[in-house]
Amino acid sequence: MRLIPILLAATALASCSAAENIAENVTADPATVANVLTTPDAKDVHSYAIPAEARVTHVALDLVADFDRKVMRGTATLDVQAAADAQKIVLDTRDLKIAGITDQDGKTLPFKTGASDGIHGAPLTVQLNGARKLRIAYESAPGAAALQWLDPSQTAGKKHPYLFSQGQAILNRSWIPTQDSPGIRQTWEARITVPQGLTAVMSGEAKSALGEEAEGGGRTFTYEMDQPVAPYLIALAVGDLRFQALGPRTGIWSEPSTLEASAREFGELEKFVKAAEALYGPYRWGRYDVLVLPPSFPFGGMENPRLTFATPTVVAGDRSLVSLIAHELAHSWSGNLVTNATWNDFWLNEGFTSYFENRIMESMYGKRRAAMEADLAWTAMEDAVKEAGGPASPDTQLHLNLAFDRDPDAGMTQIAYDKGATFLRTIEQAVGRERFDAYLRGYFDRNAFQPQTSAGFLRDIRANLIKGDAALEQRLQVDRWVYQPGIPENAVRVRSDAFPAMDKAAAEFAESGDIAVVPAKRVTQETVRFLDQLPRGLSAEGLAALDGAFKFNSSGNSEVRFSWLMLAISSRYPPALESADAFLNSMGRRKFVAPLFTALMAQGEWGQAAAKRIYARARPGYHSVTTGTVDGIVGWKG
Ligand code: BES
Ligand code: ZN
Repeated sequence: MRLIPILLAATALASCSAAENIAENVTADPATVANVLTTPDAKDVHSYAIPAEARVTHVALDLVADFDRKVMRGTATLDVQAAADAQKIVLDTRDLKIAGITDQDGKTLPFKTGASDGIHGAPLTVQLNGARKLRIAYESAPGAAALQWLDPSQTAGKKHPYLFSQGQAILNRSWIPTQDSPGIRQTWEARITVPQGLTAVMSGEAKSALGEEAEGGGRTFTYEMDQPVAPYLIALAVGDLRFQALGPRTGIWSEPSTLEASAREFGELEKFVKAAEALYGPYRWGRYDVLVLPPSFPFGGMENPRLTFATPTVVAGDRSLVSLIAHELAHSWSGNLVTNATWNDFWLNEGFTSYFENRIMESMYGKRRAAMEADLAWTAMEDAVKEAGGPASPDTQLHLNLAFDRDPDAGMTQIAYDKGATFLRTIEQAVGRERFDAYLRGYFDRNAFQPQTSAGFLRDIRANLIKGDAALEQRLQVDRWVYQPGIPENAVRVRSDAFPAMDKAAAEFAESGDIAVVPAKRVTQETVRFLDQLPRGLSAEGLAALDGAFKFNSSGNSEVRFSWLMLAISSRYPPALESADAFLNSMGRRKFVAPLFTALMAQGEWGQAAAKRIYARARPGYHSVTTGTVDGIVGWKG
């Protein structure tokens, strides 16, 4: 097995504290068990798996993407590592139809699907009878939560259907029966058969770039991931897809009609990878490509290994929103290499990544741009604290205590991103950049291809950076940052020196309504800052003057359009409704969609009637991630 050298190398590099964690878990072959933590803080309440008893080490999929029935059907063959006396293995499933399970010799294995709930799905318990390979014949449900099946009309080209998956946090169990827990890393391979004319891409290495003719018609594409990954990182997209190379190991996938604009927007992809490597060490995943999805993709981006999935709403035409690429690329270290052991440790993925993202932006575009983005993130953090119910709310802790009955998706907020990044910046400033960078590099090496808990990180930083320095310990307050709510007093705030002019313009415009006080030359981040600083409830004349001068109501820059609409809706500006309708029907990115519907619903009958009308039309085009949030906001009854 190819993964052994990687794991052995990672284990050899492990620090004392990490090695202790590992030692507790080694029951059989250390090469495969080494990366499952069984400490109490590593228990994942969002998975039914009992990895100490039996765990999946490898997943082999052989699936047909059936666009007529909107289901994935075929087999998943799982390699299992089990304790000598293990009788059973428990897998995660959600709405799967299981036809039968056999062992490696074709002998039937008894199984039972437990009770299902709307968040976790159902446990699938398989009696092992000594088997170490299970072959599960199954199909997904037409409404599988991870999958979105698009009609041709929902694509850029309008001629071919499209399918994509979104696994994070716990959605992949709706199309892959495995142990869907971020702490249970698995290698995988897949054969995906799609209708003639379509291409399948996955978050692994392509074994047949053009696919092969399938027996029953269509084409079969083969992918493989021989580095163990968290199962939420297995991803698939199928459509009329084309590729354009940007550098020796980078390129863009998208529908033909959006390829050129996407390739131009992300033209600096290779440079991003180099900038990231210069900070924290070699990129370990081979290729780094970006797939630009149809507009219903519910996130800005998703860090699927080797193939970031990205929303087309960042293709602004002027590269102004490329920090998204810095972010998803950074996850190749924080998240994909060192992975949150449970969703309570989500900040280890997103906080590290947001900090890393800003460092990449600084190295690519300079301090001025990085400072603007960090300053906007500070405001976002303050807003997130308010939204969580204030600085005493447990939802403002970095380490979360998500209960079983809570959808992890709801607990995973912007706090993880911006408080997490602020924490790391605070450490950076206390110890100096050089020392902190060296520490982070070591952290990624020591913990590569392993899950990490918040407590594990604290042990690592104490062992390798703080090293018993009592004054530093006192100054950093790392436990306070990780386990207490609110923003600690020692938080380092980055201020952009470009923003005071925007704040002044906003204040003066609110006062005078005089368009001449607004600087005409602004970059996107300055415009966003200006709009966000304007008081809510601005007069219709004021809004009309702004729109007349700067055409915000029809802006093609999604961030500007969003900030403008948040302002204009809160001010009950009539022309905002038509613009909101068009925007909300043009994309399904939850970060834009959910706040806009919330803003509409807060505006009495004026906004609520519009929200219901717009949602009724837009909802069929949204992914389950987005409808799952917005249904509650607009009180949708299906
Ligand atoms: N991994 C996240 C997306 C995610 C988080 C999916 C939680 C499911 C559950 C991704 O890296 C991300 O953070 N995307 C951001 C963009 C980024 C620039 C902050 C987004 O989608 O807005
Ligand atoms: Zn992220």
